[in-house]
Formats: sequence, C-alpha cells, structure tokens
Amino acid sequence: MSTPKSDQITREILSRIGQASNLEQLDAIRVETLGRNGFITELMKSVGNLPPESRRDAGQHNNALKQSVLEALDERRILLQTSELNSRLSKETIDVSLPVRTYDSGVIHPISQTIDEMVNIFSSMGFSVAEGPHIETDFNNFTALNIPPEHPARQEHDTFYLPEKDDGSRLVLRTHTSPVQIRTMLSKKPPIRIIVPGRTFRADYDSTHSPMFHQIEGLVIDQTTNMGHLKGCLIDFCRKFFKVEDLPARFRPSYFPFTEPSAEMDIGCSREGGGLTIGRTKKSGAEDWMEILGCGMVNPRVFENCNIDPEKFQGFAFGLGIERAAMLKYGIPDLRMFYDSDLRWLRHFGFSSLEIPGALGS
Ligand code: PHE
Repeated sequence: MSTPKSDQITREILSRIGQASNLEQLDAIRVETLGRNGFITELMKSVGNLPPESRRDAGQHNNALKQSVLEALDERRILLQTSELNSRLSKETIDVSLPVRTYDSGVIHPISQTIDEMVNIFSSMGFSVAEGPHIETDFNNFTALNIPPEHPARQEHDTFYLPEKDDGSRLVLRTHTSPVQIRTMLSKKPPIRIIVPGRTFRADYDSTHSPMFHQIEGLVIDQTTNMGHLKGCLIDFCRKFFKVEDLPARFRPSYFPFTEPSAEMDIGCSREGGGLTIGRTKKSGAEDWMEILGCGMVNPRVFENCNIDPEKFQGFAFGLGIERAAMLKYGIPDLRMFYDSDLRWLRHFGFSSLEIPGALGS
C-alpha cells in the first residue's frame, strides 16, 4: 500500500543507500528492501489486498518507489566500486626496477637424448621398441643365447649375481640387452623387428667402463633376412646417427655365441691433430677405424632354444653401447661423468627439450 508512511520509509531507505560506505553495506540494504521479505517486496504484494478501484494507482506508485530504490542502489554501487578501485590503485605499487625472478629450466641428459635419436632413426626403418627387466634369469641372459654354464664367454661378462635361491639357481643383473631377444622370440612369432634400449650391468669400473651402462639391441627375423640386410641397416643407421653421409664402414669377423657368423662393425674416423672426428677428413682423406658395435646372423641354436624353426626363419641381431656412441658423437671425454649429476656438466652436454631429437632425414 502506498501511504505517506511508505513514502517516508522509502525516503529513509534512499538516504541510507546514499550513506552506505562499502559494497557489503549496500548489499545488506538491497536484501532488506528488495529481498524475499524486503520492505518494497511486501509493499508490492500488499496491492492485491486493496479494493480493485485503488489497485492501479497504488501499483503505479509502488513501482515508482521501487524504481527509485533500484536506481539509487545502482548509482551508489558504481560510486563505491570506483572509489574502492581508486584507493587500491593508490595503495598498490609495482616496482618496475626489481630484477625479474629467474627460473631454472632442466636439460635432457645426453643418454636420454641419444636413446631418443636412435629410437627415432630405427622407428623410421620400421622397428618397434621392446623392453625387459634388469634382473634376468640365467637362462635368458646366458643359456638360451647359447652361452651354457661352462662357456668361457661367461667369464668375460663380469656378472653381478643375486643370492642363490633354494633350488640353487641364481638370478643375474642382465649383462647385455640380448636376453630381450629371447623374451621376444619366446612370446611372439616372426616376423620380428625390434630394438631394445636399456640398462645393463657388469662389474667393471674405469674411464671407459661403468658397472651400469646402456645398450641398444636390435633383432630382425623373417624368412629371407640376410647379411646384406644387416649391413644395409647398420650402415644407414650410423650415417644418420652421426650425420655423415659418406661415413666409411667395415665389418670385421668376430665371435658371439648367439650369432653365426658374427662381426664387429667399425666406422671411419680421423685422429689427426690428437682429436677424433667421425668420418673422412678433408685434408688427407686418410681413414682410421673405430669399433662401434657387435652384430651377426642369429645362431640357429638360439632359434631352437626359442622354438623357432631355423629351417624356415633367419635373421640378424646387433648390440651397441649407448654411452660410447654418445661420447663419439658429442665429444664427451669421460664415461664416468654421465652419472655424476654434476650440474655444470649437465648444462654443458645436456639438450634443450625444444630440440627435436634425431631430426629425420638430416
Ligand atoms: N650382446 C653383445 C654384447 O653385449 C652385443 C651383440 C648383440 C652382439 C647382438 C651381436 C648381436 O657385447
């Protein structure tokens, strides 16, 4: 109902709005007047109780009151917001002369980088990555690879053995990635084309040997895979990896119990001037050789140990030391530095995460 009384109350409300000193107070007044049980709300509802002939006038009058309250609230809100902002702006300061906060960005370890590069190159040749555990059975690490217990090759491996089990068997820390050849041949049938980057362990420690190091193994098996494929694949790989298009390569006869024939691959290098450069030298073109990996055609006995018919399938395998390849490619002098976690060394030899490893085709 619009009476002089409601006009009076509305005037009081308007004056309180005019005096509200912050947004919270203003909101309290809004709820008090326009909320569910607010004064104006009640006033609007009361129109329904009036005799029909006075409803129109009363309604219009009340609407005008409501409108005046709404406008006052809006006006005051804008005023308060502006003054709050102004007071914050006058209090807050930014000292643009302060030094910026530095942030440390990590680098990619040369071993991770080298593995990424190698995986990229072999992926482009259709290889997929396989893995196996660091703790291996004697069978997978030795026996199935045609290294029976009495075989002299066992001595060369400087194996870390785990404590003997009740049945007398001993697990080993794998001495090479070759047991993953066995695991793969036992779990899937040819054609097989895998690479296996991973950690390996041997009791050996000097500037070129570490008790833990990394290898990348390769295994290709199909019905007609031959030594020409082995040579082509590995020469292509080395040329891409070292980014030397005409990198000279040679294969020397060697011996591994699990391949027959076996070979060691050498790549051309130059030791002119005391340094070491992979590839031919511009000056004399003279070649020196650097051993890079071991390889060979899978020994039929290994196929037999893995229930693959050697009359039907043949293939090649190779194994290469990742640290050694990284040292050659990036001129890293001492193997032991790889694991010292010396930040200065890591910053020097590490890689930015923005570099795309092994950029294919380069
Ligand atoms: N496993 C061998 C080593 O550790 C390398 C190798 C792998 C050789 C596969 C031939 C074939 O020395």
